[in-house]
Amino acid sequence: MRLCVNIDHFATMREARGGLEPDPVTAAQLCELYGAEGIVCHLREDRRHINDRDLRLLRETVKTKLDLEMAITDEILQIAIETLPDLVTLVPEKRKELTTESGLDVIREGEKVAHAIRLLHENDIEVSLFVDPLDEQIEAAAEAGADIIEIHTGEFANARSEEEMLEQLDRIKAAAAYAKTLDLGVNAGHGINYVNIRYITAIREIDELSIGHALIARAMFVGLPKAVEDMLQRVRGF
Ligand code: PXP
Repeated sequence: MRLCVNIDHFATMREARGGLEPDPVTAAQLCELYGAEGIVCHLREDRRHINDRDLRLLRETVKTKLDLEMAITDEILQIAIETLPDLVTLVPEKRKELTTESGLDVIREGEKVAHAIRLLHENDIEVSLFVDPLDEQIEAAAEAGADIIEIHTGEFANARSEEEMLEQLDRIKAAAAYAKTLDLGVNAGHGINYVNIRYITAIREIDELSIGHALIARAMFVGLPKAVEDMLQRVRGF
């Protein structure tokens, strides 16, 4: 299982003052230096954190793997094609949300999603779809031509009881196993932290994790190198 770090919140903090620091590009370099196997950033339509300059510099400097999270809009698709990230993760985006709230509805938006995937594939960019752990969505993702799904782990992470958490975990396990039968790569993300990660790492079908908030929150207290190393230890199970 690989650890990819979402660095958006370094840019969130920078934007709080509208200056230059902290620079998410520096954060990405440190994450890689301390073992992260990929860097994730979300270029939102409203540019509330990561901006075009960040993406450009990240493309020039990330040495592991750059995963661009994005909504399907003509503008952002054009930027993706010009930037050539290693992976694009398509997500739904709402202006007022604090963070991505749910998976893509690939069943309802099948044609739009398939069109975006075709465009990205024509430019040799792999495509992952952020979906809820539902068989119908996973089937639709495969039909639309996705290479990978990223399973939305938010409901698992936000469960209010152990029973609910285990129920959500079962859904994630079943979704990961089903996706593999359809030859899809399996990523997972949203709300994964230093405690709940042990349930997720037990799911062997998951290839890659995308983790942001918990890691950056810990970095504020212990420093980014240690926050990355602590998470890597958990991902690798030692
Ligand atoms: N995956 C997707 C698609 C996301 O939108 C996010 C949040 O930006 C993450 C993973 C990371 O979630 P978190 O910040 O809760 O670790």
